[in-house]
Amino acid sequence: MEERKNLYSAIQPTNNLTIGNYLGAVQNWVRLQNDYNCYFAIANMHAITVRQNPAELRQRTLSLAALLIACGINPEKCVLYVQSNVHEHAELCWVLNTFTYVGEMERMTQFKDKSLKHADNINMGLMDYPVLMAADILLFQSAVVPIGKDQTQHLEIARDIAQRFNNAYSPTFTVPEGVYVKTAAKICDLLNPDKKMSKSAENANGSIFLSDDRDTIIRKFKRAVTDSEAQVKYDPENKPGVSNLLSIYSVFTGKSIADAENEFAGKGYGDFKLAVGEAVADRIAPIQSEQARLLADKGYLDGILKEGAKNASFAAGRTLSKVYKKVGFYQS
Ligand code: TYM
Repeated sequence: MEERKNLYSAIQPTNNLTIGNYLGAVQNWVRLQNDYNCYFAIANMHAITVRQNPAELRQRTLSLAALLIACGINPEKCVLYVQSNVHEHAELCWVLNTFTYVGEMERMTQFKDKSLKHADNINMGLMDYPVLMAADILLFQSAVVPIGKDQTQHLEIARDIAQRFNNAYSPTFTVPEGVYVKTAAKICDLLNPDKKMSKSAENANGSIFLSDDRDTIIRKFKRAVTDSEAQVKYDPENKPGVSNLLSIYSVFTGKSIADAENEFAGKGYGDFKLAVGEAVADRIAPIQSEQARLLADKGYLDGILKEGAKNASFAAGRTLSKVYKKVGFYQS
């Protein structure tokens, strides 16, 4: 039997997850966990590149673990852990820093965006963020990395760093490939459909959080920005708002975009928006109750995360000791 390839992805425990994270990432992870050796991390080390409230960060970490399991991540099939519990991440990051140029980090779009947003705290971690991400991926010899479109540039850097290291020494790292979902690789903000839906958007009415209740979800969809044409048609260039809603509807209902267009032919945007809101709320409700059930059993969650960290550390340690040998670190 052919050996399964390794897959890696991670998500930050900042704010609540949006349906962008769910559709662009988590739902895809759930599907892929049957075909790969999966490592899924809660990226709390990335999270502190922006100031966090410590008590909230701790709570969000556990809450995210519960949410991922509630969404269908099965800890029996994959390794689920918290990044800071596996010390190899920081250690490999240090070595990879010496294979990364300051100029290329300064050119990263996310670094530039976040520097504008957090002008009073442009810390080294913010700049080093993509190198830590490369370390995450490369530690696990990951062949496949499922991400949303916003992470493409970071994945490219991870590939470059892997190749640089392999060329400088000898093949050490698997060079990873990004995989994207077709329809939901970039879910957009409901009020600002030219921008991605984000956990940390200034106006929370543009994002649907997995923690939103039914009324909130329906209200936010009702207010979503569309256009004056009153025609439900997929045309991202000219109708970004309506097209975004169609993508969301299509992935949440499993209907094709064409079927969805037909379903709302001749109907107004009011009916359409309500249907999208209901489809999303129907799907999210059982996830929320499962998350609450899991959160009531902290012992169970801690057990999963401990076991996950142990398994992740074992795999990561093998890569790190190879790297330490290659760069010439003395082992006493
Ligand atoms: P994060 O926490 O911002 O987002 C987690 C995942 O959700 C995807 N995503 C979206 N997909 C579609 N539409 C959207 N509007 C949308 N918003 C977010 C992101 O692309 C991501 O896949 N740096 C990463 C976490 C990370 C990581 C890694 C990912 C740390 N190490 C190694 C992959 C491999 C991040 O901040 O994701």
